[in-house]
Amino acid sequence: MASSVQQPWLLLIVLLPAVAANPIFDENYAPTWGADGYHLVDQGTEVRITMDRNSGAGFGSKLSYGSGFFHMRIKIPGGYTAGVVTAYYLSSDPDSGNHDEVDFEFLGNVDGKPITLQTNVFVNGHGDREQRLGLWFDPAADFHDYRILWNPYQLVVFVDEVPIRVMRNMTGRVPEYEFPAKRMRLRASMWDGSGWATDGGRTKIDWNRAPFTAAFRGFGVDACANTSATPCGSPDLWWNARRYRRLSAQQRAAYENVKNTYMNYDYCTDKDRFANGNVPPECSYD
Ligand SMILES: *[C@@H]1O[C@H](CO)[C@@H](O)[C@H](O)[C@H]1NC(C)=O
Ligand SMILES: *[C@@H]1O[C@H](CO)[C@@H](O)[C@H](O)[C@H]1NC(C)=O
Repeated sequence: MASSVQQPWLLLIVLLPAVAANPIFDENYAPTWGADGYHLVDQGTEVRITMDRNSGAGFGSKLSYGSGFFHMRIKIPGGYTAGVVTAYYLSSDPDSGNHDEVDFEFLGNVDGKPITLQTNVFVNGHGDREQRLGLWFDPAADFHDYRILWNPYQLVVFVDEVPIRVMRNMTGRVPEYEFPAKRMRLRASMWDGSGWATDGGRTKIDWNRAPFTAAFRGFGVDACANTSATPCGSPDLWWNARRYRRLSAQQRAAYENVKNTYMNYDYCTDKDRFANGNVPPECSYD
C-alpha cells in the first residue's frame, strides 16, 4: 500500500474527461511571433517551436475565452536548458496594464538537474503568486498533459490528472479577493529567462547548445469562446457542472501530497514578502 500513499493520483485517472484526438493547430491557433522558429509536423497536429541566439517563438489561440477546461500536451527541450523558459498560459491583453493571467512556466536546467515547474496567477496586472515544484517525471522525456480548469467556482491547475494548484472564487464574499475574470487567450512560447530562471539567474543560457525545441499537441479547445452565445458561467457548459466546482476527495488527497512532497516554493507561506506578513486572502481558501 506504500506506493498508493506516495502516488494517490493513480486513483485519479478516471476523473478527467479524455482529451479529443488530434485536432490540427490551425483550427484554433496561430503563430504570434518568431515565425522562423515554428514548424508544424504530423499533418499539423503537432507544433515545434525553437529558440536560438536570434529568436524565440510563440503562438496563441485565435479566440479569447471566459471559462473552460484548457489543455495542452507538451514536451519541453531536453539536455542542457539552463535559462530556457517554456511557457503555456492563459492571458488577457498583456499590454493593458491590468491583465489577468494563469501560467505554467518550465524553468530549464543544466544536464541531469531537475526541471522546475513554476505557476503564477495575475489579476488586474498583479501577480506575485508564484508556486514552484519539482516534477515527479522528466517533462523533456515525453509529452504530458497540462491543464487549467477555470470556471465561476474555482481555478485548478493540473499536471496530468494531478491538481497542483487551486484557487477558489470567493469574489464578493471575501473583501479584496482577486480571481481572474477577464477573457483570456491561450498562449505558448519559449524565451530567454537567463536573468532569473535557473539558480536565481546565476546559470545562463548556453547558446552553443541551441536550438532548443519544445513540442506541443492537443489543439482542441474545451472553453467558452468570445463568439459563444452561451454565457460563460452557464451550468450547461460541462466544465461548469457540479463535479467541476470542487475537488473530489481523491483529488484533494493528491493535491495535498503534491504540496507536501513536491512543492518547494509557495508564496502563501512566504510571509516576509508581504506587508505585515499578510499573505493574500486566497491563501486561506484553497
Ligand atoms: C474574439 O477574440 C479574438 C482574440 O482576442 C479577437 O481577435 C476577436 O475580434 C474577438 N471576436 C469577437 C466576436 O469578439
Ligand atoms: C466569481 O464569483 C463571482 C460571485 O459569484 C461572480 O460574479 C464571477 O462571475 C465569478 N468569476 C468568474 C470568472 O466566473
